[in-house]
Amino acid sequence: MYATSKNTMPQRSLASQMCVICLHLTQRFLTLRFLFGLFTGIFFTIIIYHRNESVVDKQPHFRADQSKFEYEKNQLLPDDVSVKTSAGWNSSWDGLKRETSALRHLYLIRHGQYFDNAQSLSEMKLTILGREQLKYTGIRLNQMNIQFNRLIHSGMVRALESATIINEQLDQKLTLIQDANLTEGLPVAPVPYAGISQRDVDSYGDKARIDAAFATYFHRARHNQPRETHDILVFHANLLRYFICKVMQFPTQAWLRMTLNHGSITQITILSDGSIIMKSMGDSGFIPANKVTF
Ligand SMILES: *[C@@H]1O[C@H](CO)[C@@H](O)[C@H](O)[C@H]1NC(C)=O
Ligand SMILES: *[C@@H]1O[C@H](CO)[C@@H](O)[C@H](O)[C@H]1NC(C)=O
Repeated sequence: MYATSKNTMPQRSLASQMCVICLHLTQRFLTLRFLFGLFTGIFFTIIIYHRNESVVDKQPHFRADQSKFEYEKNQLLPDDVSVKTSAGWNSSWDGLKRETSALRHLYLIRHGQYFDNAQSLSEMKLTILGREQLKYTGIRLNQMNIQFNRLIHSGMVRALESATIINEQLDQKLTLIQDANLTEGLPVAPVPYAGISQRDVDSYGDKARIDAAFATYFHRARHNQPRETHDILVFHANLLRYFICKVMQFPTQAWLRMTLNHGSITQITILSDGSIIMKSMGDSGFIPANKVTF
């Protein structure tokens, strides 16, 4: 039709020429409308298909029990929480009130592996592996890029050595502070019974001294502390586990149910209202697996 119209156009009247043009434009319009409709249809089909797919797909991403939990969380009315089973929290556990907004960060380090079968206390030094473990601990603490305030150790040889190795790794050197109240001991007889009776505790325990050490370091910021503090404490697993129970307000007799690896870091932050955040417990992920001991 195109070809004939081209050839015959000069002989036709203006009206018939206009008709041909109109017909031509109408055809084009219809073609365009058809294509537009087709693509719109395809477009919306794809969108709806994808939307259905994402709704259907979402379910398997949840763990089976997680979606159940999400459901139950929505169903749970505040009154359903049993007062009997919910744990209490003594917000004035340190005998203080909120005096400032500053935080207190504690980095509790267990000393490295040591000669625990040596004859005397002074011979209970770190083993070669123990020294290596504490080097990793020092490197990790340095990598945290924190300006630490204090580096405190118990004064027992293995804790002093451990603190010294940590300090060697820190870019900002600290003065070592000794606190004999952090010396290893037995705070309370563990439950369940594990070979340590209350009689052992009474003779070797020093609970009063250990509680004094706790009170020295575990408290919210006092009014004379304007900025947050970061203290490293290098000491011993019995005290450390007892302190964890005590600060978390767990039964302290549970301390022996936990173990802490040599050179591990337990990170606790005390907020200004006395709340506790335990950021890690016995973290030793920075020590190669073949060098981890407890
Ligand atoms: C909270 O702890 C403090 C300090 O140990 C204690 O004096 C106080 O009686 C405790 N309060 C309660 C309600 O147990
Ligand atoms: C160590 O503990 C005793 C109580 O056993 C206490 O009188 C003393 O002040 C404590 N020392 C330090 C440095 O906190």
